[in-house]
Amino acid sequence: MKGSVRTAQRHDSALKHVTGQALYIDDIPEPPGTLHAALILSPAACGRLGRLDLSNVETSPGVVGVFSARDIPGHNNIAGPGKLEPLFAHDKVEFAGQALAVVVADTLDAARAAAEQAVIDIEPIEAILDIATALARQAYVQAPSTILRGDPDAALKAAPHCLTAEFSVGGQEHFYLEGQIAFVLPGEDGDLIVHSSTQHPTEVQHVCAEVLGYDFNRVTTVVRRLGGGFGGKESNASWVAAAAALAVAKTRRPVKLRLPRDIDMLATGKRHGFDYHYTVGFDDQGRVLALDAVMAADAGWSLDMTPGVVARALTHVDNAYWLPHVRVVGYACRTNRQSNTAFRGFGGPQGVLVMEDAIDRIARYLGRDANEIRVLNFYGEGRDETPYGQKVDENHLPRCWAEVKKLSGFDQRRAEIDAFNRASPILKRGLGLFPLKFGISFNLPHMNQAGALVHVYTDGSIRLNHGGTEMGQGLFVKVAQVVAEVFNVDLDRIRPSATSTAEVPNTSPTAASTGSDLNGWAAWEAANTIKQRMVAFAAEHFGTAAEDIEFADNQVRIAKPGSNQVVSFGELARLCWLGRVSLSATGFYKTPKIHWDGAAMRGRPFFYFSFGAAAAEVVIDTLTGESRVLRADLVQDCGASLNPAIDHGQIEGAFVQGQGWLTCEELWWDKQGRLRTVGPSTYKIPGSRDVPPVFNVKMLENAPSREATIFRSKAIGEPPLLLATAVWTALKDAIGAVVDHKTAVRLDAPATPERVLAAIVKLRK
Ligand code: MTE
Ligand code: MOS
Repeated sequence: MKGSVRTAQRHDSALKHVTGQALYIDDIPEPPGTLHAALILSPAACGRLGRLDLSNVETSPGVVGVFSARDIPGHNNIAGPGKLEPLFAHDKVEFAGQALAVVVADTLDAARAAAEQAVIDIEPIEAILDIATALARQAYVQAPSTILRGDPDAALKAAPHCLTAEFSVGGQEHFYLEGQIAFVLPGEDGDLIVHSSTQHPTEVQHVCAEVLGYDFNRVTTVVRRLGGGFGGKESNASWVAAAAALAVAKTRRPVKLRLPRDIDMLATGKRHGFDYHYTVGFDDQGRVLALDAVMAADAGWSLDMTPGVVARALTHVDNAYWLPHVRVVGYACRTNRQSNTAFRGFGGPQGVLVMEDAIDRIARYLGRDANEIRVLNFYGEGRDETPYGQKVDENHLPRCWAEVKKLSGFDQRRAEIDAFNRASPILKRGLGLFPLKFGISFNLPHMNQAGALVHVYTDGSIRLNHGGTEMGQGLFVKVAQVVAEVFNVDLDRIRPSATSTAEVPNTSPTAASTGSDLNGWAAWEAANTIKQRMVAFAAEHFGTAAEDIEFADNQVRIAKPGSNQVVSFGELARLCWLGRVSLSATGFYKTPKIHWDGAAMRGRPFFYFSFGAAAAEVVIDTLTGESRVLRADLVQDCGASLNPAIDHGQIEGAFVQGQGWLTCEELWWDKQGRLRTVGPSTYKIPGSRDVPPVFNVKMLENAPSREATIFRSKAIGEPPLLLATAVWTALKDAIGAVVDHKTAVRLDAPATPERVLAAIVKLRK
């Protein structure tokens, strides 16, 4: 059989992706009468919305209608029960880029031209435009949350040494290649089919229904694929779809809303930027005794997914390290900016930076090697409980660390680079190592569930549907491999189909890297149900015991004393149909063992941990501050990988995306709070030439998950993004070389040339 689990299989759409034949939403043929939509956005960051005069918009050529808050038949709420975030601002605007109305016209150009005709009067209110101001005014979107263990105050007082430091890290634009898009078709009685580029079809269904005052059963969300999501289409896709749905409800015509890049960047949330302040206490060896840290996230104007992001930042502050006494306080600062949201890593990348910074400072202070101090503080025997109470099981840190040091030839290169730096006054090189521990599962236990629907047809071909969405990460091929494995048939017998709320209802978003963990098991359950029915039928039909029926290599073998029989899988399916056996089944899975007390911030939020380690080498130009990543060596724990080809790509892509976040991707708002980096000309994502020229990726071998994950695999979507932390550490190392590593380096991220240069100038003073 071809394509079983644990083999390298190409992405099911790989050829279609590279030949342009993959159908994205904008490629779906438009029925006659389709209207095109454009958004009208707030030009100001904060104020009272005095007058919204849309008469010029309405009379613009080609315009069919323009709809604002007062046209919403249901609730002007996109945030779900108990929360309130308006689809369209009505009395107050809270960031520059907030949606005020949607206009629909016969052509896309007509709609976009009309949107510019709106007359908008906003009476300004003083905006909060940074984290510091929000902290000073105690402007939060939720109450501060704290993880506390032991007595950090007493431990810091008693510690032989203490250091206090602060730094900050910026946000990140998702820059999915396909912008946010929804194409909504009206059906009988105004029921809706919503084609949405969303990671969360069920939320799109709910939000459209909420805005229109519909029952959920009148809205069907369909998603064949996304041109990238990265967390940016978890909540943001919903309001885009709702705006289109509103226009459909009003016009009874199909409506397509596709945001152009600048509008997409202005209107949708990003990765949370963070400000940090911490004190770390340690002994003469560099063993950490206590950590007292504050992490303040820029939530933007509304709650969105900030609670989860802050919780993940807090639960990842320990990363690889045992912290006996710890207090971490997370603030969710309300600012008049885009509402920040999920982004690959979901607060984890921001959380792990604290200890990496602290350890570099401890090492400088003690005159020791930072990597020895890292190892000294690793989780280990008797030092294996996280600050939130979960045990660190199956600790692969020492293995990943040893392997990455070997893979990168670390010790030898350390010596070479030190020699290079002594001889090179202008260019300086730096090395960084990073150990990783990342928790897998949604922090909210109820979200860890999934469903699937499998049909076997009478020719033996199989249709697979589940609640997960395909955004390029290879979920569909992995889940198809699971089904192929159950029936023991070739992978190409299985046809993954578009995710649809009509086929599998009440789903969780495809996020938190859990896609294949959850949907893989759900599909396994569905396929296995059908298989058991087929086995029972075959046993009866051929007059033998169930144990004597074997599915192997696209066939079914019926072992009988003296006369073995073989039928093809399709033939048995046909016989089952003649015998009136159902060849369709649902499957359901919920992650075991997890629990979480959100008030106490304690529990076992994660089914398991994924581990990794990275080594990065950079070079900086001390005259310009420019930097390059010269080499990266990565070791990543994938458990027993379901598909090493897909996982390899995920590791590479995630690392480079993390590299972009920490180095070149800079969001910039002007003094009025308007985002001015709204396209690739001003917002620099890594290009092909930023990929490290030497890039070694290795998956940890012989490391099947100890927990009962699907075929003992582990999630891969997010953890490797954090490996890029090694680049940040390497940059600090290169900057430190300017003064022979005598002083600690503060390097805020993104470490743009300006910031690198400023750090050098400060060191030299
Ligand atoms: N890979 C590609 N190509 N495109 C994406 O949008 N999203 C990432 C990751 N890898 C993404 C990706 C994010 S944020 C997550 S949470 C996971 O994929 C989600 O998919 P999974 O759970 O199936 O791994
Ligand atoms: Mo990923 S940030 O969990 O969509």
